[in-house]
Amino acid sequence: MSGINEANIILGICGGIAAYKSPYIVRGLKERGADVRVVFSPNAHKFVTKTTLQAVSGHPVRDNLWDENAEASMGHIELAKWANMILIAPATANSISKIANGAADDLLTTLLLATEAPVFVTPSMNQRMYLHPSTQSNLVKLRDLGYFTIGPSDGSQACGDEGPGRMTEPNEIIDHIARHCSTEIPQNLEGVNVMVTAGPTRERLDPVRYITNDSSGKQGLAIANAAKSKGATVTLIAGPNVEPTNPGIFRIDVESAIEMNNAVQERLKETDLFIGVAAVADYRPANFLKEKIKRHGNNSLTNLELTENPDVIANVAKVKNRPIIVGFAAETNDPLKHAREKRIRKGIDAIIVNDVSDPSIGFNSTENAATLIHEGGEIAFAKQSKISLGAELIDQLENIFSLSKRQKSLRQTSHA
Ligand SMILES: Cc1cc2nc3c(=O)[nH]c(=O)nc-3n(C[C@H](O)[C@H](O)[C@H](O)COP(=O)(O)O)c2cc1C
Repeated sequence: MSGINEANIILGICGGIAAYKSPYIVRGLKERGADVRVVFSPNAHKFVTKTTLQAVSGHPVRDNLWDENAEASMGHIELAKWANMILIAPATANSISKIANGAADDLLTTLLLATEAPVFVTPSMNQRMYLHPSTQSNLVKLRDLGYFTIGPSDGSQACGDEGPGRMTEPNEIIDHIARHCSTEIPQNLEGVNVMVTAGPTRERLDPVRYITNDSSGKQGLAIANAAKSKGATVTLIAGPNVEPTNPGIFRIDVESAIEMNNAVQERLKETDLFIGVAAVADYRPANFLKEKIKRHGNNSLTNLELTENPDVIANVAKVKNRPIIVGFAAETNDPLKHAREKRIRKGIDAIIVNDVSDPSIGFNSTENAATLIHEGGEIAFAKQSKISLGAELIDQLENIFSLSKRQKSLRQTSHA
């Protein structure tokens, strides 16, 4: 398979509310040239019809391991061999649990044990179900077993709750799959060590209160994934609530700006390219109180004293033999002017600026638009999914800084 246009994809649909979006996934994959066959979990038919999925995929939908006609020729094994990729979207908590534990009591889970194809699981469920320790440990198991996960996203849910567990949007899922299945992506970043920071930081005031911001970590994660898919060795320093990472990316979870700064500094020696995407809090409460501050009789809440946090990116710039440094600027007014100034002030090689005053891009959104500013010029990127923007940014950074040709020794002399 040299691209999505040659892919034979099984789309497994489980019995979750987001199944109403699955026909869009089929259409999107087919528009890119993939052949898609749909398999229902035992409960998917309660949310979408076989008729719809048959019409959009152009193939009968299978949902029964005990289909006498299909199984006369061991149809489930044939189907498993036919697929060069399996995507499960939505994946319910129930099916995730079954898959993580190797169950094979229905067609979909049986196929997964019989396939050698890469499997992408797209969790989709209520935030409490997602955050339940059973689901979390099942997802860790899945990733340890080599399954890839996509999402979930954070936001408003069908049940009225707010939080993580929403299925990643169909266009983002398709971008993800397209990048993965394209062996046309040249492995130009092989041997290049990339470090990415992503997400917000959380600055604690007492055990239950903290200051944070709206960053979701999606853009940082997309950049880390894009660098990984071009062969780079990637370390992700992730703030709170950053979505799970796929196999192959070394991840360190941190909470505060101080922890992020320390994690970055500890691993900087081997880094060739540092991309600081995280929205690091500029200030933290001057005092951390070990016990919850009482509402009455304490002015720590009404007169909150703040102190400056370490500047993670500026501290990377101070290091001798520093890597190439790319920063991010989320601005709400005059973004280009502020970003140009910030690049010079921080002494970094490039800055990527996005206008977060537009709610359809930037923080927490699945889409973004940005401008990359470097010494030699500026490149504007149109609004697109954060996944495809991540890939475009990595391509540009590779060209601008000749990353594929750059040897570590060369980097050290140029920045010494
Ligand atoms: C209205 C409704 C919506 C549901 N939505 C979800 C969901 O989004 N995610 C999920 O994991 N389970 C959801 N469930 C529960 C699953 O349908 C249930 O766990 C079922 O056993 C899953 O079966 P399957 O994994 O074979 O598809 C929902 C149930 C109902 C009644």
